[in-house]
Amino acid sequence: MRIQRLALFVLPVLASTVIGINFFAAGASPKRSAGFVSAPQPADIGGAFQLTTHRGTPFTERDLVGRPFVVFFGFTHCPSVCPTALFELSEILRAIGSAADQLTPLFISVDPERDTPEVLSSYLESFDERIVGLTGTTAQVRAAAEAFRASYQKVPLQDGEYTMDHSAIVYLMNRTGRMTGSLDIHEPIETRKVKVTNLLSK
Ligand code: NI
Repeated sequence: MRIQRLALFVLPVLASTVIGINFFAAGASPKRSAGFVSAPQPADIGGAFQLTTHRGTPFTERDLVGRPFVVFFGFTHCPSVCPTALFELSEILRAIGSAADQLTPLFISVDPERDTPEVLSSYLESFDERIVGLTGTTAQVRAAAEAFRASYQKVPLQDGEYTMDHSAIVYLMNRTGRMTGSLDIHEPIETRKVKVTNLLSK
């Protein structure tokens, strides 16, 4: 139910192809129906969290006061969606240039078991240096995801390993901590660049 309501609000893209297809087929009806009276509103998104950066320093919502920021939930073992989203976000930041310095892009791991600050730090070397990786305890990550109404789930693989399914929107948050929109990885990069530029000017 929670996932279905989220699907009304944003188009979730799941990391696992098979489960992702099932999810789209089963739950992601784009139509609003009378039963869904409490779809999350932008005002419901965001809030308090306590995490640790990829540099090992504490980070909370108080570090974002007065700054626009973007938030993406994912994990470093993600086979394609996360690296693509982070690569394209890096392209957007590079295209905007130094004006994007006022923005704080956050990559919050939904896989704290594997994503230590050190792992995040190494992973983020491939992307724009302004992106801040965040991780924490399982409870801290859970709380952060709940604050943003982000969904994720551990999915065991046959080899004893696991992957994570997760919602894959990039939240656009303004200086007052309110969500003003989102980026969809299916949109043209140019469209996303305009959205981020608009966020900076607000
Ligand atoms: Ni991913």
